[in-house]
Amino acid sequence: MAGKFKPKLTFRMRLRNKLSLLGLFLVTVNAVFSGEPSTATNIPTNGYARSFEDEVLLVIEEPEFTEVIENITAAAGRNVKFACSVKNLGSYKVAWMHFEQSAILTVHNHVITRNPRISVTHDKHRTWFLHISNVQDEDKGRYMCQINTVTAKTQFGFLHVVVPPNIDDSLSSSDVIIREGSNETLNCRATGSPHPSVKWRRDDNSKITINKTLTVTEWEGENLELTKISRLDMGAYLCIASNGVPPAVSKRIKVSVDFPPMLLIPHQLVGAPLAYSVTLECFTEAHPSSLNYWTREDGQMIHESRKYHTENIIGSPAYKTHMRLVISNIQQNDYGTYKCVAKNPRGETDGTIRLYTTAPPTTSPKPTTTDPPSRNKDGWANGDLNNSVYGNQTSLNMHLADKGSKYQSNLNEIDKSEQKSSSENDSKGVIYDWPASDDSSAQTIKISTLWVPILIIFLYQR
Ligand SMILES: *[C@@H]1O[C@H](CO)[C@@H](O)[C@H](O)[C@H]1NC(C)=O
Ligand SMILES: *[C@@H]1O[C@H](CO)[C@@H](O)[C@H](O)[C@H]1NC(C)=O
Ligand SMILES: *[C@@H]1O[C@H](CO)[C@@H](O)[C@H](O)[C@H]1NC(C)=O
Ligand SMILES: *[C@@H]1O[C@H](CO)[C@@H](O)[C@H](O)[C@H]1NC(C)=O
Ligand SMILES: *[C@@H]1O[C@H](CO)[C@@H](O)[C@H](O)[C@H]1NC(C)=O
Ligand SMILES: *[C@@H]1O[C@H](CO)[C@@H](O)[C@H](O)[C@H]1NC(C)=O
Repeated sequence: MAGKFKPKLTFRMRLRNKLSLLGLFLVTVNAVFSGEPSTATNIPTNGYARSFEDEVLLVIEEPEFTEVIENITAAAGRNVKFACSVKNLGSYKVAWMHFEQSAILTVHNHVITRNPRISVTHDKHRTWFLHISNVQDEDKGRYMCQINTVTAKTQFGFLHVVVPPNIDDSLSSSDVIIREGSNETLNCRATGSPHPSVKWRRDDNSKITINKTLTVTEWEGENLELTKISRLDMGAYLCIASNGVPPAVSKRIKVSVDFPPMLLIPHQLVGAPLAYSVTLECFTEAHPSSLNYWTREDGQMIHESRKYHTENIIGSPAYKTHMRLVISNIQQNDYGTYKCVAKNPRGETDGTIRLYTTAPPTTSPKPTTTDPPSRNKDGWANGDLNNSVYGNQTSLNMHLADKGSKYQSNLNEIDKSEQKSSSENDSKGVIYDWPASDDSSAQTIKISTLWVPILIIFLYQR
């Protein structure tokens, strides 16, 4: 029962039994695309059949396609329609099929497939429209329009379905907390058609440190391998998936780098005369944020009072904090040792500042207050300000700004003497240069716990 049949008979059959028609079309489709003529083989050709066919062909003009079927590219979710224009259809019928699925979709005005997104319309003239609503990826392929002439006539158009990219959250990295110095690979898995490409950027557009020798502003690939992560790598990373089908999508992955507190003490020896005020300073770096406080040498915590004013100024990046302790109206028992302490879940660090007495300046009346600290735009006091300094009685160099004075010790000489005295007198104390990557211009750090040096050396090796 291949293609050679009387049309009338065929379609009477269809009305009784759609299923058998479906089989019929499938045979036809296969025959056409395997290159065999659909009139082939299993029908015995006798003289009568042939003469009947010839007779019909002579009398009736064969149906013909009048236009090619346009190929369609559509994004998933759209509605599309294919048009098949036929002249001289007569009593023949037009069917739509999906070639790859070997499925008859519609015949004449009837929808055969169970796919509810398929429908068929006719413009009452020549054109038969196949409608596909809410196009899905599985709908892609070759759509055939076929006329059930004795030798079936077929033409086709392609449907290309494109799918905008999507990032699969379950297969992609989410926010991570990493110990400084460890390695981490961030993943971003994206789907879409065509297959999307994935690239990485940092949210603030700073460079991505891939390894010791390679930094990039953009990294391409589903995996972003970060080796020996440092605090400078902390921040939000974006993976961006695109395939030319809008919209591109991105996922923001926050990378937190944990490390124990580190302290930078620009001035470990600070001199001030009786009755003056003085400001002691420590700079900390810690993530997660440390608990910061000051103590006297006896370990007693210093609380806010008329004598003491403490401040923690968050820096930039936010793992930096500027600790300030203002001691007002210095009395004899205020001289001695002060400690700034920083604690976080990764560890604890403290540093010592010694306040010693100096002679008051003779050139002006005693001030009773300190000036507000001068700060740069990040809110950090500038450690290298040319402030009045009590470093050494002989080097006393006071600028009395109106009625106030500043007693921040800023001279390099003091730093040098500090280094010396610290190493001589503090058995636990170790002095390191601050890592060069740090934007602080301060020169020394004093650390009284053992693990920080290891960390610093580690930083150096990066
Ligand atoms: C549709 O696409 C096919 C294959 O890509 C091509 O051979 C055919 O010419 C295209 N048809 C039209 C109308 O562009
Ligand atoms: C991190 O990666 C580097 C380079 O691939 C490797 O040499 C090192 O051993 C890794 N470190 C850890 C802690 O896995
Ligand atoms: C850094 O990473 C790039 C890219 O993965 C690699 O080609 C290069 O060898 C790496 N360099 C080092 C020092 O690991
Ligand atoms: C401090 O300021 C004075 C005058 O303002 C200037 O002459 C001197 O060079 C400065 N010293 C430093 C170390 O900046
Ligand atoms: C500190 O004063 C002493 C004498 O009192 C002097 O020898 C020394 O050079 C001074 N140091 C500095 C850094 O000015
Ligand atoms: C360090 O110790 C020595 C002797 O122990 C002492 O003479 C010196 O003044 C001390 N220096 C400081 C800065 O405390």
